[in-house]
Amino acid sequence: MNREREKRGQILNGLETIIQYGREPIFIFEATGNILGENEYFKKLPEKTKKLLLDKNGNLKNSIIESLKTGIKSIWLKDSTGSTFLHTITFRNFLKDNSLALGLISKDSQDCMNESTMDRKEMFRLITHELKSPLSNILITLEYILLRKNKIDFNEIVDKIRSILKQVISLNSFIDNYLDMEKLNAGFIEPCFDVFDLKEMINEIQDSVEPIIKSKGLDFIISTKNIPDKMKNDEEMIKRIVLNFLNNATKFTKEGFVKLEVSQGKNSIRFIVEDSGMGIEKKDLKDIFEPFKRIKEEGKKSEGFGLGLNIANKFAKMLKGKISVKSKVGKGSKFTLNLPLR
Ligand SMILES: Nc1ncnc2c1ncn2[C@@H]1O[C@H](COP(=O)(O)OP(=O)(O)OP(=O)(O)O)[C@@H](O)[C@H]1O
Ligand SMILES: [Mg+2]
Repeated sequence: MNREREKRGQILNGLETIIQYGREPIFIFEATGNILGENEYFKKLPEKTKKLLLDKNGNLKNSIIESLKTGIKSIWLKDSTGSTFLHTITFRNFLKDNSLALGLISKDSQDCMNESTMDRKEMFRLITHELKSPLSNILITLEYILLRKNKIDFNEIVDKIRSILKQVISLNSFIDNYLDMEKLNAGFIEPCFDVFDLKEMINEIQDSVEPIIKSKGLDFIISTKNIPDKMKNDEEMIKRIVLNFLNNATKFTKEGFVKLEVSQGKNSIRFIVEDSGMGIEKKDLKDIFEPFKRIKEEGKKSEGFGLGLNIANKFAKMLKGKISVKSKVGKGSKFTLNLPLR
């Protein structure tokens, strides 16, 4: 008991140093909602933000505490209409029982924006969220390691480095996808039609996804029917499209199979990715090609940014091809890329 109290005291000291040096609004709070410490930036938050964050006794609102208890690492603070978010709050738990945590509020850029369209504003906020959440987490974790450098044990450091690595990989992939989307919008990417070995491309795709599919305990089926040895097209674009289909199929399938079928028709070639996963509701099908659209699974967001299908669709159009989807909730999905033969 005493050791627990001592550990809590040490952590609290460390956190107080973090919040004093932090350059964004940071606060320390308990699971009861009681705020134990805050920095200058937190004190200067606009009243409307504080109202969304705190109840009339100056404690953190219950809804925010509940999010933390369910293990959510970051939430958006919405305005009173519930449609626009003002800030992102990133949480970091410092005790196993979730009783002591640190919250970091990412500054909002809405006041400096003059964009008239809501879409662009919303997009800007989503990008800020995707960039700031992992960065805030990485920052807090690194500061925590440095502050406890004499007391922290090796295994804990390795765990923290693993979590940082995961977030850096995810951040890197977001930036790559986002830059690709912008380059496509600006017309900077042109297809490059060349002759390539189709079977070799399928082997490369297999090598890159099979380990992940198998590690989830899913069957991976590949079927190729009358396919040509060589074909003329943009190999990289086709690979990106099919890989996104396969990654999605793997991500959204808990048991059963993921299948890649390649077949040649009279004037076209088709790449079909089928899975036995959660499926997509009919009403959501029209949205999945929109940037940043992700369908919530059992109340939580899946990993990913909702850019893959948007980029895949743009690539398919450049190749004069078409993507179509069939899906049944609880049964699975089937994504088809149909390309004309050249
Ligand atoms: N095979 C699938 N089964 C169920 N839902 C899917 C499937 N493929 C796509 N979706 C839905 O469509 C959304 C958009 O897919 P998309 O590939 O654009 O984004 P993502 O996979 O979430 O992120 P990203 O590809 O940018 O890493 C997904 O978040 C998911 O909700
Ligand atoms: Mg995807």
